Amino acid sequence: MTQLKQMSHLDISPPTPGKFKMDKSPYIHRLRGHGSLAKLTFWSFVFLGLILIFFFHSPSPNSLPSDPFRRSLRTYNWGGPAWEKRVRSSAKVRSRHGISVLVTGAAGFVGTHVSAALKRRGDGVLGLDCFNDYYDPSLKRARQALLERSGVFIVEGDINDAPLLSKLFEVVAFTHVMHLAAQAGVRYAMENPGSYVHSNIAGLVNLLEVCKNANPQPAIVWASSSSVYGLNTKVPFSERDRTDQPASLYAATKKAGEEIAHTYNHIYGLSLTGLRFFTVYGPWGRPDMAYFFFTRDILKGKTIPIFEGANHGTVARDFTYIDDIVKGCLASLDTAEKSTGSGGKKKGPAQLRVFNLGNTSPVPVTDLVTILERLLKVKAKRNIMKLPRNGDVQFTHANISSAQRELGYKPTTDLQTGLKKFVRWYLSYYSGGKKASG
Ligand SMILES: NC(=O)c1ccc[n+]([C@@H]2O[C@H](COP(=O)([O-])OP(=O)(O)OC[C@H]3O[C@@H](n4cnc5c(N)ncnc54)[C@H](O)[C@@H]3O)[C@@H](O)[C@H]2O)c1
Ligand SMILES: *[C@@H]1O[C@H](CO)[C@@H](O)[C@H](O)[C@H]1NC(C)=O
Repeated sequence: MTQLKQMSHLDISPPTPGKFKMDKSPYIHRLRGHGSLAKLTFWSFVFLGLILIFFFHSPSPNSLPSDPFRRSLRTYNWGGPAWEKRVRSSAKVRSRHGISVLVTGAAGFVGTHVSAALKRRGDGVLGLDCFNDYYDPSLKRARQALLERSGVFIVEGDINDAPLLSKLFEVVAFTHVMHLAAQAGVRYAMENPGSYVHSNIAGLVNLLEVCKNANPQPAIVWASSSSVYGLNTKVPFSERDRTDQPASLYAATKKAGEEIAHTYNHIYGLSLTGLRFFTVYGPWGRPDMAYFFFTRDILKGKTIPIFEGANHGTVARDFTYIDDIVKGCLASLDTAEKSTGSGGKKKGPAQLRVFNLGNTSPVPVTDLVTILERLLKVKAKRNIMKLPRNGDVQFTHANISSAQRELGYKPTTDLQTGLKKFVRWYLSYYSGGKKASG
């Protein structure tokens, strides 16, 4: 029992601990009918319970958490006729052969761009995001405002919230799910390992459970990562290369996700496509990534750490521009076959795919800094350091021939061009008193 408790605590501890922790009191059964002190305690609990019920129940019509997965979830406002109307209208397909997509992680970097692109073509799009503060939530709010203007509603909630997800599928018969919600970042895993388990494993399983029960089942495209190649030294990385030596907990949870995807495809006939993104960058990007905080720190005159491998080896990344990634995501949705299950049961074999989405030209991080210096017209203060062994790999390089063949994927933006667009966005976004943080 204690073991079970610990396990579930690890599973459900949110990335940023919720304001409230809800515990269903186990005391009530034990204390029933024993002595007056016990009675007093019992009634105090009942009273406290009533207060809690009032507090948690009043802002929203959704039910109280009834399963352990919801215990430590933050409470969000959802439900009600006005809310359902917004959900429906956002997910409404407006073009003839359009699809309706639930985009998780829609307030995130990739999620925002994918949602906007889908909406532009007339697809129905509904976002879902928990707005955690892994990095500056005001940036997520600004992305949300951007999507709001183009008619995309982001429901505020956690992918671990089964009643919420089921409700969404009850309101809208999504044909596709674009699953991008995750705990990203490699180094943060040492600080908060539970958040990776919470979002990348427990959250994924919860989402797939709801998808498998949905009628009709949606086709699912989701974000894995190039980090699954881990300590692999054979380049370029091809989908069939080994991925059993992850170098970080982040990578391990993404690899676990690929195995979980296999299982749900095999047992329930869910159509599943995993995309291994290679270092995505661009406007509205993530402040925890090097190109982003290098820009911030170079402008501030702060020294930036530049890693090098053993024997002064070059650290390089296959930087991929966001617009290219978006095209890969949309092509994956468009080529995804239907799931085959119904009533929670498999009816036949379903599609299972994995693709690298990279740029195929690794650039040394020192070159990245040189490009930024030129664009920002500021000299960087460089501090060359040994690459720490806490998750980052020295080199990434995608073989994209499979995505090219099956998706027509062909990246067209080089680092120079892409960074120019990023810097232009950065300067306009953070001018006017707003400060970069994260
Ligand atoms: N950006 C990259 O270079 C890169 C590379 C490889 C893989 N990926 C993957 O691509 C996906 C999108 O990445 P991104 O760069 O846009 O990251 P991001 O952090 O900007 O976006 C993820 C979003 O998911 C939300 N989220 C996290 N946990 C959640 C939960 N439990 N419930 C609901 N929402 C939750 C966050 O609030 C965030 O807005 C992620 O799965 C990431 O692991 C990204
Ligand atoms: C790239 O991957 C394909 C399989 O999709 C493989 O046939 C090809 O040999 C790989 N190329 C390299 C250079 O590894």
